[in-house]
Amino acid sequence: MDAPLTSSLARHISMRQLQVFEASARLSSITRAAEELFLTQPTVSMQIKKLEGSVGLPLFEQVGKRISLTDAGEALYRAAREILEMLGRLEMEVAELKGLKTGQLRLAVVTTAKYFAPRILGKFCKDYPGIDASLEVTNRERLLERMTKNLDDLYIVGRPPESPEYEFEPYMPNPLVTVAPSTHPLAKEHNIPLSRIADEPFIIREKGSGTRKALETHFETHKLKLNIKMELGSNEAIKQAILGGLGIAVLSQHTLGQGIDQTGLTILDVKGFPIQWQWHVGHMRGKRLSVVARTFLEFLRSQGNAK
Ligand code: PGA
Repeated sequence: MDAPLTSSLARHISMRQLQVFEASARLSSITRAAEELFLTQPTVSMQIKKLEGSVGLPLFEQVGKRISLTDAGEALYRAAREILEMLGRLEMEVAELKGLKTGQLRLAVVTTAKYFAPRILGKFCKDYPGIDASLEVTNRERLLERMTKNLDDLYIVGRPPESPEYEFEPYMPNPLVTVAPSTHPLAKEHNIPLSRIADEPFIIREKGSGTRKALETHFETHKLKLNIKMELGSNEAIKQAILGGLGIAVLSQHTLGQGIDQTGLTILDVKGFPIQWQWHVGHMRGKRLSVVARTFLEFLRSQGNAK
């Protein structure tokens, strides 16, 4: 027989209090938590007061207008997320036993994946209409931060983080190409040496971008220096800057869509290009995936064609 699990907190705190506390901590605001949960602000404050009473320590401290977690608050936040996640999983498992695929899918992707992720998600939601999906688009550095905080179910990145703390698998090719205006003098040339384009002014993505990292690594490997003309935080802005004659760039081919011919842009035939990158999907190692997340992963595997 299993031993009884005893906890005095289990007798004194309610699920609703945990939910209210989790939202306040995640949003760093009582007001925003109240809005999210459709409660009044005094109700949220009162629930948190009761929770503090049960824990026996303050959970928040006021810093100016914002609230931040105390050490006890941090510990409770981690526990609250685990408990609520577990309940979410339970809900989905029960739904699966009932033969339904319902629940939430929280997907976070790097900026460049926005060119295909919504389409894949759309297709998935059509196959599983009971699933509620959300998509967070951010750059690689911020995505890794979100992963450490366990804010989403699955993550799509170009280059997966190297540490063994993460578990990623390739699922689709991501060719990185050199993009220039179609009027560029090199537009008609073939097998252009990398040293030749190293003289060109480059427009590159912001620090923290996976595309930028790939480009820098490629140049370092060939012991060449990039001639950086401008740094821009979005693939779309870079394409406009190329059209404006400010320089050339290395971008994921996915950013160019289907018909590049009508855009005024062209792909230069540079030796060693495209850089053969892969899209990877994954999460922190040891994360227990929900039924919905596992279903989505299977769906990606069936759609992708990793090399
Ligand atoms: P980025 O990421 O959109 O941050 O450049 C692409 C990648 O991870 O390769």
